[in-house]
Amino acid sequence: MPANEEIIRLEEVYKIFGPQPRGRAFDLARSGVHKNEVQKQSGHVVGLSDVSFSIAKGEIFVVMGLSGSGKSTAIRTVNKLHEVTHGQVWVDGVDVQTLEGKSLQAFRREKMGMVFQHFALFPHRNVIENVAYGLKVQKVAREEREAAALRALRLVGLEAYAYNATSELSGGMQQRVGLARALASDPDILLMDEAFSALDPLIRRQMQDELMAIQDEVHKTILFITHDLNEALRIGDRVCIMKDGVIVQIGTPEEILTEPATGYVAEFVQDVDQGRVIKVEEIMTEPDPIQSNAEFDEVRNAVAGRAEVLVIDPAGACCGLITRGDVERVSTQGTPSLASAMRTDVPVATGTQSLNEIYAEAGKGLPIAVLDGDGRLIGRVEPTDVLEELGRVEALTDAFEREVYM
Ligand SMILES: Nc1ncnc2c1ncn2[C@@H]1O[C@H](COP(=O)(O)OP(=O)(O)OP(=O)(O)O)[C@@H](O)[C@H]1O
Ligand SMILES: [Mg+2]
Repeated sequence: MPANEEIIRLEEVYKIFGPQPRGRAFDLARSGVHKNEVQKQSGHVVGLSDVSFSIAKGEIFVVMGLSGSGKSTAIRTVNKLHEVTHGQVWVDGVDVQTLEGKSLQAFRREKMGMVFQHFALFPHRNVIENVAYGLKVQKVAREEREAAALRALRLVGLEAYAYNATSELSGGMQQRVGLARALASDPDILLMDEAFSALDPLIRRQMQDELMAIQDEVHKTILFITHDLNEALRIGDRVCIMKDGVIVQIGTPEEILTEPATGYVAEFVQDVDQGRVIKVEEIMTEPDPIQSNAEFDEVRNAVAGRAEVLVIDPAGACCGLITRGDVERVSTQGTPSLASAMRTDVPVATGTQSLNEIYAEAGKGLPIAVLDGDGRLIGRVEPTDVLEELGRVEALTDAFEREVYM
């Protein structure tokens, strides 16, 4: 399978709700008139306005936005629960708008599994029957469907509960059964609309982690809807931010955080735990090291400009760190040398680590040497930069907790 092979594409999709969706409301929306104004002038509701995106096989693509922004409408065009007013929706090379009746049903069953916020488990069937239900409908033989259901239950960590009643499970476990049900038929695509939104925050985080772990194993394409930017940035390979039926920005979590396209996105981003998604390589600076065989005068000059200097060996590997204090300490010696003055226990990180991961290293108060896969020095990070970034976040979290709990 070639990398970046596209599996879902929306092309200039419009969805207008009302008795005459292709009338004046559509013309207005098409000329860029805002949803509220379209409603005022035509009495029609704009669900989607000129929405285009492309999702690659194996990607977790998250659509994020406030209530009413068009997220569910967008996901429903993919399985044709909604007909579009204008534009095209492609799924695995098929124009889904052309599918009807049995072929549409078969296409949905084969290609997609769905998980929603309030999906119903059958209360009178046990866990495995719930998970195998879709396969039963498809007339898959009992043995085969139970084996598939057990595989899916193992993926979500509920194999042991296969023969329990669904009423015996907690909310989080029930949501996992829903996920297992979607996975049981081994579809290429998972459509998840606010699948974790009803869970309390701790369970919700666990589910996010589990989804990512499962994804590492099964490599599905996941279209995930949420109104929570934290969740979007946490699990998304790319995030699509919607507002009032239009797309405001599509980008990787890092792009959304560091280059928010509009003030609207920036406002969201302010509330996010940046340390988790910002990578070391994004805040690192030029390392400006000195060579391990440098003359001591050169070392003295280097620490005059910068309080701590990293040291590299002839191969470019980071072999030490010297501080202004170190230089002063050995300067009184007869022939001070770099080798005798420098420390070798340098805090290190790789470029792809998140700021959260290097928090402990930053706590040492020394610059962090950023190394490539071969141990060569490619950058440095100031501990104060890390702490400032995370401290800002902590202040936000504190304020939030005060508001919620006091
Ligand atoms: N069947 C419908 N008939 C009329 N209007 C609809 C219909 N479905 C959605 N809408 C409208 O389309 C817009 C987008 O709705 P949608 O359900 O896609 O929002 P959402 O982003 O999923 O919101 P939420 O977070 O509340 O689920 C809203 O203004 C909504 O009122
Ligand atoms: Mg919705």
